[in-house]
Amino acid sequence: MANEFRGRAVADLEPEIAEIVRDLGGKMAQSEEVEFMSAFALPLPSTVICRLLAVPDGDHIALQEMGARTLSATASDAEVDAAVEELGDYMRGIVARELAQPSDSMVGRLARSSKEYGISGETLADLCRLLLVAGHVTTVNAIGIGLYSLLRQRQQWQLLSAEPSRVGRAVDELLRFLTVAQTLSRVATQDLEIAGVRIKEGDGVMVLLTVANRDERVFDRPNVLDISRPRGSHLAFGYGPHLCLGAALARLEMKEAFRYLSQEFPDVSLAADGDELNYRTNVLIYGVHELPLRLR
Ligand code: HEM
Repeated sequence: MANEFRGRAVADLEPEIAEIVRDLGGKMAQSEEVEFMSAFALPLPSTVICRLLAVPDGDHIALQEMGARTLSATASDAEVDAAVEELGDYMRGIVARELAQPSDSMVGRLARSSKEYGISGETLADLCRLLLVAGHVTTVNAIGIGLYSLLRQRQQWQLLSAEPSRVGRAVDELLRFLTVAQTLSRVATQDLEIAGVRIKEGDGVMVLLTVANRDERVFDRPNVLDISRPRGSHLAFGYGPHLCLGAALARLEMKEAFRYLSQEFPDVSLAADGDELNYRTNVLIYGVHELPLRLR
């Protein structure tokens, strides 16, 4: 799986991602006002990951909805379990089809190599479910609340529109500043003490990446969004052996999105005040549910 997400393999997806971006942007341009999350921020990562997993176009919306339910903070445990099961069934269907007749897609290549490495169809379907969920929610919200933040700090948006070559740094600064995946969850494997706090073996630990990414010992004026900031080592994609597998893909999607939007819609503005927006109150992923925009 890691081979599929390495820089070079991901870079090959650039033309296809750029085309999806242009297509979504072209549809948005037909209206004066749009709801950005449903018009662009959600369908971009969703289309990309669904194509990698050879999900037929007609099923994308149902899968977005199932994926969202698996991460819901308000659903009961039984509802979350049912959504995980439903998504699992769907992915087992895709994997069975790919094992019988691998398509020329990422999941087709994974199906072929799973036979070689003796990985069961069940495990492959679980991994695909993980990719589908991980590949959706995070990037969707990074694009949504990312645009919101740039528009709130208009001079940063103007700078990006005037100099789109800054997009790589802008994306990393948004990742740091917003830290949409806010926490890591771990279980202590031994007794330890951190900064005077005792943690016992077996205790659950939540690591707040948001706080680490605003550490003033690491970042100058950490609470300021500054797309000219030199690239620092932020923790938005986690750290260590579980570092985000999709980091290169997420960066590429965000770069294509913000480059295009800053060039095609330099005059875009927020059509709602910050306190009118419906924020995600789920601690897992930061963002807004809707983002109304005026395009001209
Ligand atoms: C802006 C977008 C994204 C952010 C902020 C993000 C953030 C993260 C973070 C913080 C982790 C570490 C979790 C932990 O250590 O417990 C992680 C893991 C992971 N991410 Fe992402 N992610 C993003 C996009 C993606 C995409 C597009 C994919 C796949 C298509 C993806 C797939 C994964 C997978 C499979 C893991 C688990 C890696 C492992 O446990 O070895 N992520 N991500």
